[in-house]
Amino acid sequence: MNNFEFKNPTKIIFGKDTIAKLSEELPTDARVLILYGGGSIKKNGIYDQVKTALKDISHVEFGGIPANPEYSVLMKALKVIKEKGITYLLAVGGGSVIDGTKFLSSAALYEGDSPWDILKDSKRTEVGMPFGTVLTLPATGSEMNSGAVITNAETKEKLGMGGPGLFPQFSILDPQVIQSIPQRQLVNGITDAFTHVLEQYMTYPAAALLQDRFAESIMQTLLEVAPTILKDPTDYNAASNFMWSCTMALNGLIQKGVPTDWAVHAMGHELTALYGIDHARTLAIIAPSHYQYNFEAKKEKLAQYAERVWNITEGSIEDKAYAAIEKTESFFNQMGIETKLSKYTDNFDGTAEIIAKRFTERGWLGLGEHKSLKPEDVEHIVHMAY
Ligand code: NZQ
Ligand code: ZN
Repeated sequence: MNNFEFKNPTKIIFGKDTIAKLSEELPTDARVLILYGGGSIKKNGIYDQVKTALKDISHVEFGGIPANPEYSVLMKALKVIKEKGITYLLAVGGGSVIDGTKFLSSAALYEGDSPWDILKDSKRTEVGMPFGTVLTLPATGSEMNSGAVITNAETKEKLGMGGPGLFPQFSILDPQVIQSIPQRQLVNGITDAFTHVLEQYMTYPAAALLQDRFAESIMQTLLEVAPTILKDPTDYNAASNFMWSCTMALNGLIQKGVPTDWAVHAMGHELTALYGIDHARTLAIIAPSHYQYNFEAKKEKLAQYAERVWNITEGSIEDKAYAAIEKTESFFNQMGIETKLSKYTDNFDGTAEIIAKRFTERGWLGLGEHKSLKPEDVEHIVHMAY
């Protein structure tokens, strides 16, 4: 097992009707900006619950943060923060609203000329404006981690940011919120969380027995509850296990002491930036090709995953490893997710070359757990995903 340090300061408030506890978490003298997305919270009752909980706390609102939070929209929210003397941010939404709020937390205290530089120059945020979240969509884990991904429509870029200053102070996780989530987003959430685990697990054996089993148990739980979630999102037992699995998949715990990959996300983010494909779907496009291309380096963990998660016990290491890739792809397909880029856009020609060129320009010359995937490897993998 590798050496590690672990600190996750986010307080989780989990369970039925917990949005009512919001006011207990906010400083009484806070001037709060509530941030939300395209308006789903106004239809499903979450907005009303938040407003009721905040009745004695000074607050203003900013809605309209789109999926894949857009820089130009966030800059309007930043203006509100400055003009209204906001001291505390409250994200009410999924990964996009939470990530947008993290950007604002950083940008509100940023002293440089253009906040885009936080992303472009990979500036770590040591201290941000404090913020909390009310999670409405289990998927990204953003509610309990310190990362964010922001889109710039003008430059067609999607870049990550982070730092210890960007953990939420608290996150409220009421599994009942999933009742109103459309099927497409439920499927995305399951796929995103599942792939988060794969990114931190599908590398090479590192004698980290407990981390491996944490990872496997999250994937097993997601596989177990997925059919129920998709059939009946009002099933509270399935909803609560789904929600907690998504948070645990990316709150830092399972990556401690082990090598991690994250190349699937690096390539996937480019597909969202170029074609607007839902984040989770880009992962399902890239992952099967990535595991095939890196088969030799990953086959031992692929075989372990085959045995422990998919109960594939027959055959050689290679046989099991191949079967595991097939099982993973058909899991995505069975939930209705296409795993080839050509199913999402007719303009896929040249995508692999564009992505490889971008990575070269950014100096991303060695991705993956061995830092050995060069832009030409990325080009091959994206090609295989056409
Ligand atoms: O905008 P509204 O009206 O709220 O509707 C949203 C949006 O259309 C809707 N929705 C959310 N909760 C709902 C609901 N509809 C009905 N009922 C509810 N309870 O769902 C749609 C998608 O929301 P979004 O927040 O975009 O989805 P998700 O949570 O999947 O977030 C995706 C974003 O997170 C980033 C992705 O790149 C993408 O930009 N990620 C963030 C990560 C992180 N910070 O750790 C890691 C991830 O790998 C990912 O990159
Ligand atoms: Zn993801």
